[in-house]
Amino acid sequence: MIVSRPSACPVGPARSPTGCPLSAHAAAFDPFDKPYQTDPAAALRWARQQEPVFYAPKLGYWVVSRYADVKAVFRDNITFSPRNALEKITPVSQESLDVLASYDYAMNRTLVNEDEPAHMERRRALMEHFIPENLAGREEKIRRMTREKVDAFIDRGEADLVEEMLWEIPLTVALDFLGVPEDDMARLRDFSVAHTVNTWGRPTPEQQVEVAHAVGRFWQFAGEVLERMRADSDGPGWMHYAIRKNAEAPEVVTDSYLHSMMMAIIVAAHETTALASANALKVLLEDRAVWRRLCGDPSLIPNAVEECLRLVGSVVAWRREATRDTEIGGVAIPKGGKLLIVQASANHDPYHFENGDALDIWRDNAVDHLTFGYGSHQCMGKNIARMEMRIFVEEFTRRLPHMRLAAQDFTYLPNTSFRGPDHLMVQWDPAENPERRDPALREAAHSFAIGAPRQQDIARRVRVVETSRPAQNVLAATLEDTEGEALPEWSAGAHVELELYGMSRRYSLCGARDHRRMGVAILREDAGRGGSRHFHDHLKPGTIVKLRGPRNHFRLDEEASAHVLIAGGIGITPIIAMADRLKVLGHEYRIHYAGRSRRSMAFLDRLERDHGAQLSVYAGDEGARADLAALVASRPEDGQICACGPERMIAALEELTADLPPGAFHFEHFTAAGSALDPGKETGFDVELADSGLSLHVPADATMLDALRRAGIDVPSDCEEGLCGSCEVEVLEGEIDHRDKVLSEGEKREGGRMMSCCSRAREGCKLRVA
Ligand code: HEM
Ligand code: FES
Repeated sequence: MIVSRPSACPVGPARSPTGCPLSAHAAAFDPFDKPYQTDPAAALRWARQQEPVFYAPKLGYWVVSRYADVKAVFRDNITFSPRNALEKITPVSQESLDVLASYDYAMNRTLVNEDEPAHMERRRALMEHFIPENLAGREEKIRRMTREKVDAFIDRGEADLVEEMLWEIPLTVALDFLGVPEDDMARLRDFSVAHTVNTWGRPTPEQQVEVAHAVGRFWQFAGEVLERMRADSDGPGWMHYAIRKNAEAPEVVTDSYLHSMMMAIIVAAHETTALASANALKVLLEDRAVWRRLCGDPSLIPNAVEECLRLVGSVVAWRREATRDTEIGGVAIPKGGKLLIVQASANHDPYHFENGDALDIWRDNAVDHLTFGYGSHQCMGKNIARMEMRIFVEEFTRRLPHMRLAAQDFTYLPNTSFRGPDHLMVQWDPAENPERRDPALREAAHSFAIGAPRQQDIARRVRVVETSRPAQNVLAATLEDTEGEALPEWSAGAHVELELYGMSRRYSLCGARDHRRMGVAILREDAGRGGSRHFHDHLKPGTIVKLRGPRNHFRLDEEASAHVLIAGGIGITPIIAMADRLKVLGHEYRIHYAGRSRRSMAFLDRLERDHGAQLSVYAGDEGARADLAALVASRPEDGQICACGPERMIAALEELTADLPPGAFHFEHFTAAGSALDPGKETGFDVELADSGLSLHVPADATMLDALRRAGIDVPSDCEEGLCGSCEVEVLEGEIDHRDKVLSEGEKREGGRMMSCCSRAREGCKLRVA
């Protein structure tokens, strides 16, 4: 994948702490201004495109906006300490400090802002309550509460969902999980809001004093509850468990931790989920076509919830602090530099999420979102939050499918990190309530497996509308949504995965841009693994196919000055989409298209018609051969070579481009030969996970990715063939048998990382991974 990088120092009069001049955008950026408060992802689009890491003098933080960088910061919690995660982002006045001191306020480290090794030791000690088996019992209570809340307003025809259920249920669930008595719910809600303003807001000096009193009272309340709970040492829930751990191992689960955690966890567990639920319902109700699909098929809900967490998550930015001089995405960050890592921006990054600004409930990598953080501090309560959100959506789509958003102006609490509407007004006609005709609907709930949605369950159903034969042995198919809805937009170089009668294969998109249709072209390879034969035999007009994606691992760098596009055989499919795009942009490009004979080369007519002046064709049976060395040499300075074709051609180009600057050669293989697992030829191996202390065995018939997932560790993946780089893990020790197509030969020799979907340990070796 190509990620264009800005030059190290933009031009401007103001300077960052490293002495770099600041761009006008960076100098002006203030997260408390309207654009970020209205839509943080849109407010940072310029940064994702031009200056992905920048210093914001108005905040005193370095802002990180791209997916890869935000994830890299989350991943390395040693270089980027979480110690400032709960620091007050607005410096506090002496008067409010005095107020806080009058309440003996001493908020300290919890889990989320604790450094290693204390953090991991504590996380491990407290993890048990969060594992899926121990969460199953919670579903029934969440269901019951949700039903009762809906019962209370179902015949009224309107409700404010935030006021009437969305904050109260997550708060009750949180208290129940913690084993904290359900004391004074309204007071707790006010406390949580004060804590958010105190930590992530910009209160005026007068508000600061008011907030300091509320936070002080919250602190004392947390202390009192804790004392009451200590008296009942056998009590239920996570806090009682933590209290017992405190008695067993006071040096691991300390007193200070217990008091701070008591306060922080109420916000962590309740406000995050309440806001995420309101955001999700809002965005789903805004798109009637999507809402209708969810009403008709509840199995779509888990991924729809995940997609909402990506598109409109409730935690939009988190914080870290650099513990040494370092760099992020080529930008120098000094020791002590504070980072605002903006998940909302990362979650919209087109380099990771194709068509990332749009809601796509079939997006099969929605689960890669960073709303729950990532790495060793990743949210421990993510599966509780998912459970609640899925139940809310399921109850509403079943009981009130005709519910709509009322006309309203949405308001949000001004702060950097937590986002969700203060109110969510909805309406419906009670006479249309389906339960009036069929009372059994009230109980007819659909249950969901706990945890992240499974990738194999996420696929849109499309129908083949027409097929054609653009060349010998090539079948082109045009696909349409089975319900006639629009298909997602895609960028040049994107592919989809098609599944038909249990067999799936990935194909580049090559048809014309049309919201309702997508086109693929498939070469029949009789000597291949059987996928292309299968699709050739079965794809006919009317056939229903499962479609995953689009995804793009072969993205066109639209900022490059010129492009040399090289296609071998059916490799023309992504290349033609790239050429179309470059033509629209008015950029300089040339297409070099090689094949056995003109009869076997797809789309020649279309290429002649649309790109004739830029096209060179090399048909083998006419004696024409592409001189790859000459093509590489023809690359204009700062130009990029993009190639797709057979293994041999790509390998030759890799060699010829070895000395070019990074990113100048960009390629896609047809297949990942060698990545398929053959249990008969493999041996098992052991893996030790440094972060969690777990040891795993990867048997001969499983990949390391399978083994990690079975152990409850979320590792993102996409292709699962060693092509995309999503499943990378960091290797600390051990010899790797690399089988992917992502890492360069040099990177493979270095040995610091591997693709867990296909690579293994060398025979007889054990791996230690981060
Ligand atoms: C940590 C988000 C719900 C408990 C976190 C972090 C984020 C987050 C961003 C920091 C991750 C990092 O530093 O890498 C969310 C969101 C939620 C949610 C968006 C709802 C949609 C919950 C719930 C609970 C919970 C329901 C508990 C019942 C925790 C805990 C941590 C945490 C204990 C600290 C983990 C650690 O530092 O090791 N959450 N959270 N969260 N969350 Fe959540
Ligand atoms: Fe694509 Fe592993 S999932 S390389």
